[in-house]
Amino acid sequence: MELLEGELEQIEKETEAILQHHGTERQELIPVIQEVQDRLGYLPLPAMEQIAAALKIPEVDVYSVATFYNQFRLNPPGKHQVKVCMGTACHMLGGHIILDSFERRLEIKEGETTPDREFSLERVACVGCCALAPVVVVDEKVEAKVSPIRVDGILLTFEIEKKEQEKEKEKENQKEGGQEE
Ligand code: FES
Repeated sequence: MELLEGELEQIEKETEAILQHHGTERQELIPVIQEVQDRLGYLPLPAMEQIAAALKIPEVDVYSVATFYNQFRLNPPGKHQVKVCMGTACHMLGGHIILDSFERRLEIKEGETTPDREFSLERVACVGCCALAPVVVVDEKVEAKVSPIRVDGILLTFEIEKKEQEKEKEKENQKEGGQEE
């Protein structure tokens, strides 16, 4: 995943501070990566490399721990987080088709984030409203009985919202530009 402007510096700074706090003993690996994830929202590759170097362990060891526990995420969370339920009821009623629709529409795989960081996509276990299956949770909002057409509708709503925000921003910039003249 490509880093945004200034992100690498922030990652290095935060990771360094966390390493200084925890020390560089090998047994600190999990607490360190936990805190990096808490602070940055995910475990970026440069942070894992920095941790490996500081703890004097192979990078692959850090990566193995990060991928073994599913509490760790290797991609940044999107501005909008799409969680497709893959519990039994949702799976039986086509949850995998819904996941597939999101993957195709967003052009990412589950566990990934779109390059513009707008959406991240993940599969989750039963979210506790099986009667509404198949269920998708988007930014804490439960979408019930989702169909592939509804997937388009959900994403379209966000696209329209984004365009409107951009228009508003443009208007404000023009206003500010006009005032400066
Ligand atoms: S299986 Fe999806 S809500 Fe229970």
